[in-house]
Amino acid sequence: MTEYAQLLAEAMRARENSYCPYSGFAVGAAILMKDGAVYRGCNVENASYGATNCAERTALFTAVADGRRRGEFAAIAVAGGPKDGELRACPPCGICRQVLSEFADPEELFVLWATGEPDGESGEVPCEVHTLAELLPGGFAL
Ligand code: THU
Repeated sequence: MTEYAQLLAEAMRARENSYCPYSGFAVGAAILMKDGAVYRGCNVENASYGATNCAERTALFTAVADGRRRGEFAAIAVAGGPKDGELRACPPCGICRQVLSEFADPEELFVLWATGEPDGESGEVPCEVHTLAELLPGGFAL
């Protein structure tokens, strides 16, 4: 399994813990650090909908809470789709793109997301891969 395939598998595992009683849309994310460590996260919803945290930010904040900082992040994988349903493309939302840019050089960070279910024979998960710079042109920085 390639590093990215493993990271997508971690994102799928993280998705199993999604707390999404309001949208019914379950998302998991996994962040690969340059030293090989992986941090996982899922979306955590709230009755006050705006208080919801996306899977990407849950994973990122977990890494930051563990002391990780800018320059240490290599890639983030996302797996999302209806709860108990099939995976479908789940590119990170605009807020998550901006928050990622706080902790990674956008030219350096690779962002991938599953675009469907694993292939029945090879087990390979179809995905799209972009740099954060491609996904967030003109991001805000102080
Ligand atoms: N969501 C994520 O966790 N990541 C994304 O990239 C897009 C959306 C979550 C937020 C909410 O819990 C649900 O998916 C539906 O918007």
